[in-house]
Amino acid sequence: MSKHIFVLTGAGVSAESGLGTFRDKSGDGIWSTFDASKLATPQAFARDPTTVLAFYDARRRNLLNAKPNPAHFALARLEQGLPARGGRLTLVTQNIDDLHERAGSKRVLHMHGELLKARCQICGATTIWPRDLNIDDACPECGHSGVLRPDVVWFGELPLHLDAIYTALSNADLFVAIGTSGAVHPAAGFVAEAAAYGVPTCEINLDAADNAYCFDEARYGPASETVPAWVEELLRT
Ligand code: APR
Repeated sequence: MSKHIFVLTGAGVSAESGLGTFRDKSGDGIWSTFDASKLATPQAFARDPTTVLAFYDARRRNLLNAKPNPAHFALARLEQGLPARGGRLTLVTQNIDDLHERAGSKRVLHMHGELLKARCQICGATTIWPRDLNIDDACPECGHSGVLRPDVVWFGELPLHLDAIYTALSNADLFVAIGTSGAVHPAAGFVAEAAAYGVPTCEINLDAADNAYCFDEARYGPASETVPAWVEELLRT
């Protein structure tokens, strides 16, 4: 049994919950439909906050109607089952949804932030925000209005929790990437970082990611099938 398992998830783990992926071979990913430079950068928000807020309002409403799928529940079972076997899970997600938490995962590092939170650009406070975010909404902490933004990491901004992530990569016994295209750094480089420490690596995906060549092993198929099978195998050993 591997003691410390590091799992990185991407949009593919939530695809069967009805949340879109960003880059799909079929070409109907979110960034094929919407222009990321106009919706997911600090410059876009400064230039046209109303359009950016409307984009995230639509994704937040979609999320509130979505449910975790068997892949999310399996990862929650893994987090719960490892300690009894002398192991532990580090779960890092690129996703801004809360489906891991709703499936029971207790420790989730959201390196790209969280869609159901808003952040004040004056005092920095983050607030649970499960409703539409309007430009003149006031920060519940400092009272300033017109200064709230979605608590998500946009292109050109530094992802969150990087110190904890790189420390966990350095002492993992197994690195597994689930449902991510390996298209966006720094997450796409985590597999090479783990391999440099001699950590065995496995890709679990619908089809081969851009960085598939970096992995020792691969399991392909829908996450709702491949992830529960992988977790049951792990917890049986
Ligand atoms: N089961 C497993 N994997 C799936 C499924 C599924 N049902 N459906 C799609 N996938 C896979 C795709 O094959 C692809 O490899 O999920 C991956 C989705 O890739 P992306 O859409 O690029 O999502 P992700 O890798 O998470 O994107 C990383 O890019 O735009 C930014 O911030 C955004 O966090 C995001 C980051």
